[in-house]
Amino acid sequence: MTTPASSAKPRTFAKIVTPPPGPRSREIVEREKPFMAPGTQAFSQLAGIAVEKGKGAVLEDVDGNQYLDLVAGICVASLGHGHPAMAKVLGEQAEKVMIGSFTSAPRARLLESLVGLAPAGLEGSRAQLYSGGAEAVESALRLARSHTRKYEVVSFWGGFHGKTGGVLPLLGSDFKHGLGPFQTGMHLVPYADCYRCPFKLEHPSCGNLCVDFAREAIKRQSAGSVAAIIAEPIQGTNGNVIPPDDFLPAIREIARELDAVFIADEMITGFGRSGKMWGVQHSGVKPDMITIGKAFGAGYPITGLVAKNEICGAKPWANPSFSSSSYGGNPLAAAAAEVAIGTVVKDDLVGNSHRVGEAMLAALKPLVDRFPFVGDVRGRGLMIGLELVKDKQTKAPLAKKACEFVYLEGLRRGLLAMTYTNRVRINPPLVITEAQALEAVDILTEVLAELDRKPDLWKA
Ligand SMILES: Cc1ncc(COP(=O)(O)O)c(C=O)c1O
Repeated sequence: MTTPASSAKPRTFAKIVTPPPGPRSREIVEREKPFMAPGTQAFSQLAGIAVEKGKGAVLEDVDGNQYLDLVAGICVASLGHGHPAMAKVLGEQAEKVMIGSFTSAPRARLLESLVGLAPAGLEGSRAQLYSGGAEAVESALRLARSHTRKYEVVSFWGGFHGKTGGVLPLLGSDFKHGLGPFQTGMHLVPYADCYRCPFKLEHPSCGNLCVDFAREAIKRQSAGSVAAIIAEPIQGTNGNVIPPDDFLPAIREIARELDAVFIADEMITGFGRSGKMWGVQHSGVKPDMITIGKAFGAGYPITGLVAKNEICGAKPWANPSFSSSSYGGNPLAAAAAEVAIGTVVKDDLVGNSHRVGEAMLAALKPLVDRFPFVGDVRGRGLMIGLELVKDKQTKAPLAKKACEFVYLEGLRRGLLAMTYTNRVRINPPLVITEAQALEAVDILTEVLAELDRKPDLWKA
């Protein structure tokens, strides 16, 4: 147990032996700098550390500092770091065969388990496998177009589905500014982001105006050829935004009215992240298709889609070599995903996500009353969002400098969390223990108390 000088509570898991970034980290980062193109993830640039190894929810840098990792590779590290079953299967499978799209026993077993786990609506469905999230979403759109013989797609403000050309126009943020022109026939409508309701209303007295608005907007803006509506069950990149449970079923109904496919992008929410196996299970909405990734391979890059059997046969998507890719479902990827999802089931990581998530949420909720700049705390399972604001009335976002202070002060105390923007995302590995999670909350609380003592910073 260590007690950092600056903190009140002793630490059991986070251990800082030299202020980060330490000398070895700095040396490696400097070595890489001339060759690494700009644009890597903001939290890694800000931290300036080089990683060495990890165990479960603890990540260690090359200077021996140990951090509680609430980033988890942005929801990728479902099994945490250094999972022995993953290491074993990767080694064993790499020695046998890694490459190619011939059927392999791991792939056959994986597909059977995957389809067996699929949410209601996708019983007896089929899956196709890829290696990137955006690639899987693009394939889902190709399949929706093949099936409906229509071409337009509806997505949501605040939504994120990757960075490739076919999904860029679906992003509901300024991320796409400067990257046009985009594919035509893409329409964006408001998501039920109730803390920042675009209509400045409150649920349920709003009567779900955003849904009525979406219906009207599609009617007036589209060419009457909507092939798909795609939505995240909980918006991850936008700040772990949880819609009311009646939102997605109402959107699904619009898809039905339009004879369009309803795609739930479960890239982040899938495999237990939100305390249920699938994000759609919170509202009971039945998708026609889901896209999956991140936790699917627990770090091995494997993604995919699961679609209703009657949709999967649609051509040209279903023609030989049309839905495939170079790396999709190769024997190594399949073996990794088999361990990843098998462990989620065997070790009841969905239950752990629910239980530990509840404990974290209960510990974080009081921060709204304690600090003038914590506007909201919300969460489902290990998918928790905090709003950092300058003013609770106007909800004006906390300035970037203050958010970066929260991130860097956390790092100094052994906490890695996506606190560098005003919509804080907390998403640790699903294996995190309650004791680890609560220690992480303690550190975050200390950091926020530190910020509270600097009104010039948080009011700026
Ligand atoms: C919901 C969602 N869909 C798709 C993607 C794209 O995944 P990838 O970065 O693997 O292309 C992401 C990435 O964060 C995501 O959050």
